[in-house]
Amino acid sequence: MGAKSEVVGNVVHGPNSPGEWWRGGTIYQVYPRSFADSNADGIGDIRGVIDKIDYISWLGVDAVWLSPVYRSPQHDNGYDISDYYSIDAAYGSLEDLDELIASLHDRGIRLIMDLVVNHTSNEHPWFIESSSSSENPKRDWYIWRPARPGIPKGTAGAEPTNWESYFSTPAWTFDKTSGEYYLHLFAPEQPDLNWESPTLRREIYRMMTWWLDRGVDGFRMDVINLISKNYPLQDGKLLPHGELGDGSPWYLHGPRLLEFLDEMSSEVFSGRHSNAIRIGETPDVTIEQAEALSAEGASTLDMVFQFEHVGLDREAQDWHKPRDIDEGDVYHNLVRWQEGLASTGWNSLYWSNHDQPRTVSRYGDDRPEHWANSAKTLATTLYLMRGTAFVYQGDEIGMTNFPFSNLDDFRDVSAVNYIAAALGRGESPEEILGRLKRTGRDNARTPMQWAATERGGFSDSKSWYPVNPNFRRISVDQQIGDRASVLAHYKRVIAARKTRPELVEGRFVDLDVQIPGVIAYERIDGSRTTRVVANLSSEPVETTFHERPDWAERGILAVNPAGDDYMKPWQSIVWVS
Ligand code: GLC
Ligand code: CA
Repeated sequence: MGAKSEVVGNVVHGPNSPGEWWRGGTIYQVYPRSFADSNADGIGDIRGVIDKIDYISWLGVDAVWLSPVYRSPQHDNGYDISDYYSIDAAYGSLEDLDELIASLHDRGIRLIMDLVVNHTSNEHPWFIESSSSSENPKRDWYIWRPARPGIPKGTAGAEPTNWESYFSTPAWTFDKTSGEYYLHLFAPEQPDLNWESPTLRREIYRMMTWWLDRGVDGFRMDVINLISKNYPLQDGKLLPHGELGDGSPWYLHGPRLLEFLDEMSSEVFSGRHSNAIRIGETPDVTIEQAEALSAEGASTLDMVFQFEHVGLDREAQDWHKPRDIDEGDVYHNLVRWQEGLASTGWNSLYWSNHDQPRTVSRYGDDRPEHWANSAKTLATTLYLMRGTAFVYQGDEIGMTNFPFSNLDDFRDVSAVNYIAAALGRGESPEEILGRLKRTGRDNARTPMQWAATERGGFSDSKSWYPVNPNFRRISVDQQIGDRASVLAHYKRVIAARKTRPELVEGRFVDLDVQIPGVIAYERIDGSRTTRVVANLSSEPVETTFHERPDWAERGILAVNPAGDDYMKPWQSIVWVS
């Protein structure tokens, strides 16, 4: 069974129930490598986060989600962990982390750690043992298979199945020492763990409990709906762009997923840890699956983190290849999820994270005349919906995509491997560059722009990744005292979620405005209503829809106000009764 409920005051808190802090809360994501560098080695670190706690607290957020800081060879910037119990030297020490937890808690802010347990690093001692021989007791902690019958092992095509990994290589790598292949749904340096092993699962639960005992308030669980594989593993349908196949039927939402999460909840999220948060990163999750995973009182997750709205503008089977979308597609997809999870289940609300391009460049308009208004109106549109808000570092100041000019500019392992694969297929460098400029994850990973000074105030020496050259125009320092800034707007939106109860549990009603570019919805709880009206386009639109409704008391959060009979580009207004 899942975690127990606990009575706090006269509100019952239990797994995923109304009244939980996070339902109306905002979680700020810190990507530590690019947040703030305290010791001038060019790499952001934990002490850098500690130095910025006043800023984080000023924003009004309830929690910080810290991307991985565990020891790691950094092939995937920490999503390849070689020791779950220590902090990577580049980021600091366990003492620094303890101090971060204490300083956040002093200000009433929680700390959510990243939990990466679909895979480890290939340098993790478990994998080193597992690969040392097929007889090793940890052999079954990873997923090993012999070569395909009839093809000499180690040669092309001998992989046990034809799957492509998420990072453009075959999903199997041959290990010479033990003569078999291991599965990795991501880079070859990220071997998948075998969750069928009860001893492995126990070891993971022990590690999670160790962190919660240290004061961590919960986990964002990396690709958690991939942990249960669907056996026997078989070849998938060929993908359009090459010779590899789609293995997703054998790893998405596998047959034992709910059982494993249920077990995790009773082993980890119970007793003294029953209030720790369980956020599941769940690529390709369907609404039905999301309902089951995050239902009120569910013994599995508190919420899903799903990808449909950030998958619309790229090809499903080639996610670095952009796809044009129609005006309104993104909003309508958000509505689909609002309506889908209306009676049961809980969603997260995010525009961006370390895996996505920058919001304002992607779904807004980063040209100077529209940049601020589109950044603000996008924030209003998303964060007043039903769900837990996630703000990715830098989005609150309208940071933009990076002006890549060359294929060598990309660092991210997914981009680097994609480039190699696409060049190998004979695609042109210009075409590949054009795609990655729009879809590359490096867009979100440039250093945080704190000030209009050298290196954007991120570091006192050359940063591990170049700062976006627009740091003299876009920075925290310039916006923090300006009530009209993107930053001030984000702070007001975060605060609105706290002061208007209908924004937390209230019903979501799409007003289905049939005017291209214009969207409107209401959040209703008893006698209180909030109405959001926005022009999500860079053109003025003739309409009177944004005018004061009869019942409204006042308009708040106004962006780019216009006249009575038209809305300006990226204009938005929120009416509250
Ligand atoms: C998640 C992370 C991403 C990482 C991948 C493999 O999607 O957010 O950054 O590359 O999992 O761990
Ligand atoms: Ca540093």
